[in-house]
Amino acid sequence: DVEARVDDLLSRMTLPEKVGQMLQLDARQDLAEIIQEKLAGSILHTSPAKLIEAGELLSRTRLKIPLLTAEDCIHGHSFWPGATIFPTQLGMAASWDPALVERVARATAVEVSATGIHQTFSPVLCISRDLRWGRTDETFGEDPLLIGDLGAAMIRGYQGDGLADPTGILATAKHFAGYSETQGGRDASEADISRRKLRSWFLPPFERAVQAGCRVFMLGYQSMDGVPITANKWLLDEVLKGEWGFTGTLVTDWDNVGRMVWEQKVCADYAEAAAVAVKAGNDLVMTTPGFFEGAQQAIERGLLTEADIDSAVRRILRLKFDLGLFENPRTGDAERQREVIGSAAHAELNLEVARRSLVLLRNDGTLPLDPSAGTRRIAVLGPNADDVSAQLGDWAGNSGQVGWMPDGHPREMTSTVLDGIRATVPAGWTVVHERGAEIERLVPDPEGETFPDGQPRPPIAESAPVDPAQLDAAVRLAAGSDYAVVVVGDTVNLTGEGCSTATLELLGGQIALLDAVAATGTPMIVVLVNSKPLALPESALTAAAIVQAFNPGMRGGQAIAELLLGLIEPSGRMPISAARHVGQQPVYYNQLRGQHGTRYADLTQDPLFAFGEGLSYTTVVYDGLAIGEPDVPADGVVRATVRLSNTGARPALETVQAYVSDLVTSVTWAHRELKAYRQVTVPAGESVTVEIEIPAADCTLVTADGRRVVEPGDFELLVGPNSRLSALQSAKFRIS
Ligand code: IFM
Repeated sequence: DVEARVDDLLSRMTLPEKVGQMLQLDARQDLAEIIQEKLAGSILHTSPAKLIEAGELLSRTRLKIPLLTAEDCIHGHSFWPGATIFPTQLGMAASWDPALVERVARATAVEVSATGIHQTFSPVLCISRDLRWGRTDETFGEDPLLIGDLGAAMIRGYQGDGLADPTGILATAKHFAGYSETQGGRDASEADISRRKLRSWFLPPFERAVQAGCRVFMLGYQSMDGVPITANKWLLDEVLKGEWGFTGTLVTDWDNVGRMVWEQKVCADYAEAAAVAVKAGNDLVMTTPGFFEGAQQAIERGLLTEADIDSAVRRILRLKFDLGLFENPRTGDAERQREVIGSAAHAELNLEVARRSLVLLRNDGTLPLDPSAGTRRIAVLGPNADDVSAQLGDWAGNSGQVGWMPDGHPREMTSTVLDGIRATVPAGWTVVHERGAEIERLVPDPEGETFPDGQPRPPIAESAPVDPAQLDAAVRLAAGSDYAVVVVGDTVNLTGEGCSTATLELLGGQIALLDAVAATGTPMIVVLVNSKPLALPESALTAAAIVQAFNPGMRGGQAIAELLLGLIEPSGRMPISAARHVGQQPVYYNQLRGQHGTRYADLTQDPLFAFGEGLSYTTVVYDGLAIGEPDVPADGVVRATVRLSNTGARPALETVQAYVSDLVTSVTWAHRELKAYRQVTVPAGESVTVEIEIPAADCTLVTADGRRVVEPGDFELLVGPNSRLSALQSAKFRIS
């Protein structure tokens, strides 16, 4: 059995071989050094050529323990030319559809596993609250229930029929935990977060990941209460392994162990840092080559024992045995690659998820455009109208974090908004295009070319100047067209790790473009291709329509065109609140009660677009909310029904959202929390009755001393199409 095989192998390993197994090193460095000198058991950020080289080098090592290969395939295979790139996690979250997200993860796993990659650093289960944070796009938004559901679905999809499934990949739940609770949105800053706050909102999605069978957790970068996450024994040992029974493997984030020496300066050298990390329960040490010598010195100096190392190596070897790597090192399968990478079936699924990720936020009736309305001319304008990189978003091979893939994905695989509209308009319609504006330009950081530790300081992506000629060309097209579709947003330089933004405004010439197009009087449809919700100028807010597309992936442009032309029904719902102004941060819906003084003197704290918001091409009226039995025992279920009536002429895919408010609580608690949601199709002109069930055991809060409990008493059930109080029907119930 596996334990006997682990024992046997461990008994034959030298200390350097054991420490080497704990290294997960960057394959872009010298692979011979990594595999033959440091004896690394795992590599990340590889390439097709590097995978072959690694295999050859490994065959010359003494024990030939198979390598664990890992990559950030977080919305598709990030570095394989021709692989399918889906919408980002935030885009997928707008579908509110775990089954769909599971299918996307399954397709990703099928492609990734064929290329010899065993582990993906996904899903991200961070709660996104401050929109300035550069990694908002990588999250499922702001709600713990939705994140937990989608995260669990993604884990199931990646892992398929279990770890030994050759079409599966290992999921990695990240970033454990509290990493997103930044200072001013700045990535990896100290998270000022209490244990109770962690338990209230930030930990539940991770507990769901354990329950879903996730075998690897990655830590964040931040420290909390003066303790770097890599050293947080309370979180790793007591909560994750103790309370939740996690027996899997922990991987640090990028050079977390080294950071304790050179950045956070809580350890004098790598021996100390290795000891702290191992004693806190870390197993795989990402991109800290100095851990190799450091861990051995720590043993010599009595800071660690070989038994401490053995425990970690045991967990890593167990993983490799469970993955079946000793029988089949899964180094890639050329035939399967030809069959599955970027397959037609995956392209179809990509289109399906892109369609479901689009959120119609405003519409004065201009949409859908009427294909039978005779000849029309559409001006497709804006910097993101025909921009592959913005459309695919971060971690997509030719952009952002994985920019080392030199050629990117073949251009023809991506349908931009311009491509999509051109391909979809009826015969005889004219489509014209101008960029009209730039978003940012890269300038050297005024603080210098390097950080104090000598690392290069990336340039700053500052707002680009307005180019009058470029603007004028676009405005002339708008003025001479029947509709102007203006595609604005952000770029991959304004997204990602270390790329938080100080502002949420549309940068560069984009506001000038929107203002000028609006002034032409041509009906303006604003399409937002952006990594995260941005604050919009008045000209956009008063446009004929607004479509939030996030980074919609390779088929996104086609999906957007179909939505504009009414070939599909808009069904996406905001998985995150949008702000009117950057100063409103954070503006999430489940804020604590206590409104007195929490608004600004010069601005409401009401979000621009609320969590759960999204329109259809019809109107659905909610009424008749009725609770079956309002007295519910603590082990019972709250059952309710609500009627949805479609008063328009088109069908709707409605996401019925059920929130619960605990009316009097022993601690300050959220106004309301999402407890259930259901998606139903309501045919044109018809009514449907939807049943909602919420176990009383889910109506919890976290007490002052950190216990999650149900406090018996009066509750309110709030049901409707989004989280705004004005949109919700309400009914009381009591838990005894
Ligand atoms: O997986 C990522 C993580 O999310 C951020 N730092 C780098 C890791 C590996 O690329």
